[in-house]
Amino acid sequence: MDSRMQAVLNFVEAGSRVADIGADHGYLSIELIKSGRAVKVIATEKNIAPFEALKKNISAAGFENFIEVRLGDGLKIFSAGEVDTICIAGIGGALITKILDDAPEVVQSARQVILQPMNAAKKIREHLAKNDWVIVDEDLAEAGGFIYEIICAEKNSLPKKIFKRESSPLLKKFLTQRREKLQRVLAEMSKSESARASEKFSAMLAEMSVISG
Ligand SMILES: C[S@@+](CC[C@H](N)C(=O)[O-])C[C@H]1O[C@@H](n2cnc3c(N)ncnc32)[C@H](O)[C@@H]1O
Repeated sequence: MDSRMQAVLNFVEAGSRVADIGADHGYLSIELIKSGRAVKVIATEKNIAPFEALKKNISAAGFENFIEVRLGDGLKIFSAGEVDTICIAGIGGALITKILDDAPEVVQSARQVILQPMNAAKKIREHLAKNDWVIVDEDLAEAGGFIYEIICAEKNSLPKKIFKRESSPLLKKFLTQRREKLQRVLAEMSKSESARASEKFSAMLAEMSVISG
């Protein structure tokens, strides 16, 4: 399992019943059981090819009694109260928020949500705050040459005083990469009057000024 998935696993409260949405190969689900971190996992897939691979890998690991596999869309195939922790990793931010929005009772019945969006992390944070989740910690992880953001939110909890992300050895590199990306996009958008007048442009300028400190 790579450090991206390890960072997701590290946030899972010990003894949880975990939903692994878009489990694909099932490495996170398998490690959650192997490490003893989760007591039960429900691993889901929307697409048939990864679903078949998932079933095969879980059976090869001998974890059929601990990892239930379901085929279907996001959290719609859960009942409220079935899981304590929801993990969604390796999926775009817009799709993650849609998956959360599509099953409000399931999400509200969970204690913990751990998200590793492939983009739009800011939108995820806003979405969580709007839905009364407290972001208690965040981390960064590097895998395959990319740095990923991992967000852990809980209900009725207080945020950690110092997020793992703030003391991560990856933070400097992550901010440099982010600044470079914002610079590139802002330069491109500056060429168009309508793009310059957009909310996205203002938001990116604001982020640029924050991370440039
Ligand atoms: C890039 S993989 C990430 C796999 C794994 N979670 C990881 O982090 O390595 C994304 C997976 O999510 C699945 N997926 C996409 N939308 C989904 C949805 N609405 N419900 C369940 N699975 C979904 C895809 O089929 C794909 O296997």
